[in-house]
Amino acid sequence: MNIGIIGSGDVALSLGKGLAATGHHVMIGTRNQDKKELTAWKKHVKKLGSIGSTTEAASHGEIIILAVAWHAAEDVLQQIRPELAGKVVIDVTNPLVFREDEPPALSVGFNMSGGEIVQQSLADSHVVKALNTISHTKMVQPEYKEGMPVMFYCGNNVSAKKEVVQLLRDLGWKDVVDLGDITKSRLLEQLTMLWIEYGAVRGGWDHAFSVLNQ
Ligand SMILES: NC(=O)c1ccc[n+]([C@@H]2O[C@H](COP(=O)([O-])OP(=O)(O)OC[C@H]3O[C@@H](n4cnc5c(N)ncnc54)[C@H](OP(=O)(O)O)[C@@H]3O)[C@@H](O)[C@H]2O)c1
Repeated sequence: MNIGIIGSGDVALSLGKGLAATGHHVMIGTRNQDKKELTAWKKHVKKLGSIGSTTEAASHGEIIILAVAWHAAEDVLQQIRPELAGKVVIDVTNPLVFREDEPPALSVGFNMSGGEIVQQSLADSHVVKALNTISHTKMVQPEYKEGMPVMFYCGNNVSAKKEVVQLLRDLGWKDVVDLGDITKSRLLEQLTMLWIEYGAVRGGWDHAFSVLNQ
């Protein structure tokens, strides 16, 4: 498939590599196409990857991955809303605020979530929240000695979620769990806070959640 990734940070580069490795044609959309990290990324993905403007990547993708800093999300979505109409948009963002000398915090919660804000902003697209509860270093082929991590996702459109499940499987996720409609982003974003807290306590960022069943 043609995949457009909006943003060129760690998440964009990791998912872009992982998806290109399984044969998808990935375009990264950025304000700064000359970034040295992108030159290295392009060398790695070769013909299966390209770099363009945010609008070009949004047009290129049959599926779009939103991987921008939360404070930029609304402006970015406003720019590319027409290109995203009718498409599946995977929302990887976490609505975090960063204040000096304070741990990151959610800027929305309890009765609203970033996932819902993205869906409201993109009324003509099918938003699926996924991959926000794991480090970019473990988004692709997640492997742990102790077992298989779980990836929760949610969204309003059933066929959009099926397409996202296929991409998750391409990325190596085996235990994928549909939590329901996009309001379940409230749980997924809180889960990220637990993930961050655990990392701060344990002093590492490669952990993942798993669920044990009898
Ligand atoms: N890092 C992780 O392991 C991880 C894991 C799960 C979820 N997430 C979430 O995924 C998202 C991306 O995270 P990240 O760590 O890859 O990168 P990030 O540093 O949070 O942001 C990446 C991109 O945001 C865009 N951006 C930043 N400020 C902007 C502005 N003022 N206007 C327009 N665009 C702006 C930039 O796009 P340009 O290319 O145009 O500069 C940049 O490449 C975040 O919401 C984060 O919370 C991160």
